[in-house]
Order: sequence, then C-alpha cells, then structure tokens
Amino acid sequence: MGVVPELPVGSCSRAMPVIGMGTSVDPPISAEAKKSAFLEGIKNGYRHFDTAFIYASEQPLGEAIAEALQLGLIKSRDELFITSKLGFDFAERHLVVPAIKMSLQNLQLEYLDLFLIHWPLRLSPGVEMNPFWQQKDLREFCKAKGIQITAYSPLGGSRTQWGDDRVMGCDVLKDIAKAKGKTTAQYGSKELQQGQNEGEPRNLRLVIDYEELNKIDQLPQRKRVLLAPLLGPHGLVLEIDAEI
Ligand SMILES: NC(=O)c1ccc[n+]([C@@H]2O[C@H](COP(=O)([O-])OP(=O)(O)OC[C@H]3O[C@@H](n4cnc5c(N)ncnc54)[C@H](OP(=O)(O)O)[C@@H]3O)[C@@H](O)[C@H]2O)c1
Repeated sequence: MGVVPELPVGSCSRAMPVIGMGTSVDPPISAEAKKSAFLEGIKNGYRHFDTAFIYASEQPLGEAIAEALQLGLIKSRDELFITSKLGFDFAERHLVVPAIKMSLQNLQLEYLDLFLIHWPLRLSPGVEMNPFWQQKDLREFCKAKGIQITAYSPLGGSRTQWGDDRVMGCDVLKDIAKAKGKTTAQYGSKELQQGQNEGEPRNLRLVIDYEELNKIDQLPQRKRVLLAPLLGPHGLVLEIDAEI
C-alpha cells in the first residue's frame, strides 16, 4: 500500500489513517483465519483497524498485533490506530467503562485510539457511506463541526448479510471504471488503497472528472445497512433502521 494520508481526530494524539481495515466478516470465519488476515493487513501496510466487541474480532486482532510486534512488522503499538465500539447491550452510563476495559483486555492493549457508540448509529460518526448513500447533509454538518466521519460499507457491503450488490453491480460505476481501465471496486475503495498502475507513483487520488462525478451524484440514494435482518425486527432496531 502507498503512503496513506492521515487526518486529526479530536484531541487524539495519533492521527487517523484515512484507509482502514474492517474486521467484521460475513459469513463468519475462524478466529485463526481472522488473525492471519489482520497480520497480512499489517504486512501490507494497514495501520488503522476497525473492530468491535460484537464482531468477535478484538481477540484475533490483539493476537495479530502482538505477533506483528514480535516479528518486527511494527516497532510499537503507537504506530496503529485502533477503533472499537460500544455494543448495544452496554449502552448505559455505568456499563461504558467496563465495556472499554473488556475491549482492551480482548485486544491486549492499554488504550484505544477511538471508541465509537456502535448503536444507536445516530450518535456515532461511523456511518454507511458509498455512492448510493452519500450522506451529503451529514458530511457538511461534520465538516462544519470539524468531526471526522468513518465510512463503512464503501462497496455497499457486497456479498455480506447486511449489504447488497447495488454498488458493485451498478452500471454507471461499471462504465466509469471501464472507461478508465479500472474495476468497479477500484472506483469504490480499492483505487484509494492501491493507487495507479504498476510502476506509476502510488497516490490516493481518485481519477474522476466532473461529468462522472455528476453521474454518481445522481444515483438514487437509499440506506442499505439495516439491523433488523441481523437482530430481528424489534422496536428500537426498526426505529434505527428507519433513520436517514
Ligand atoms: N459501525 C457499523 O455499524 C458497521 C456496519 C457495517 C460495517 N462496519 C465496518 O466497516 C467494515 C467494512 O464494511 P463492509 O464489509 O460492509 O464493506 P464493503 O467494502 O462495502 O463490503 C465488503 C464486501 O465487498 C467485497 N469486496 C471487497 N473487495 C472487492 C473487490 N475488489 N471486488 C469485488 N468485491 C469486493 C467483499 O467480498 P469478499 O469478502 O467475498 O471479497 C466483501 O464481502 C466492516 O468490516 C466493519 O469493520 C461497521
């Protein structure tokens, strides 16, 4: 991976690399397979990891970090930016600190760089964002307030329980990518990660012109990541799913 730009996040001393590795896997895989994937991620230059108690990825990520330190892939834990999240069952004042302690124990770490409220999503700057859910109002609001947003499901959660094929199967994106000799996924997040063609300087610029942007702007907007299929159609879950 090329050099990944970093953005400041609140009072956090470590800036956040703009590309992060998600750790929620669907369909589920073994803890050992997760650990290998995270270790591979570190080998390939990922320094920002998005984990959560509910993903059952904190422990394997902690093991991967410990091994990366042992192998000398990173010199110190401070090189990493680790996000975890407050689970739904812990969303009460007196449970927040115990939840953080549990995440730290799972990760074998002494601190987290960012701790998000997983649900309700309306309180968290970690949101679904992709060409079909561009979140323009939220982006403007956060920009004005100096809040960094973490975009999840940039490819629409293709091939996952919580997502669908809207982004990866979109003809507008396919045509734009084809005209540039790229793949649709590259026009999602991969282009950002891998830079340009072999041999060219790696950078993080998305090569896209005004007309193409306009086409993407006009794609029908609809939130896709819904909780009801995962948690069941209960009152609060349906209320959160109905939010825009
Ligand atoms: N805060 C929240 O509530 C929340 C909700 C959802 C997600 N997240 C976080 O965001 C992370 C990413 O979300 P996501 O998994 O929905 O993201 P995504 O990148 O939109 O979707 C991932 C899917 O895209 C497919 N994919 C990746 N690269 C591809 C390529 N080059 N060509 C074709 N398909 C490709 C993968 O399929 P294969 O696996 O088959 O390669 C995978 O199933 C999660 O791991 C989690 O950390 C947070």
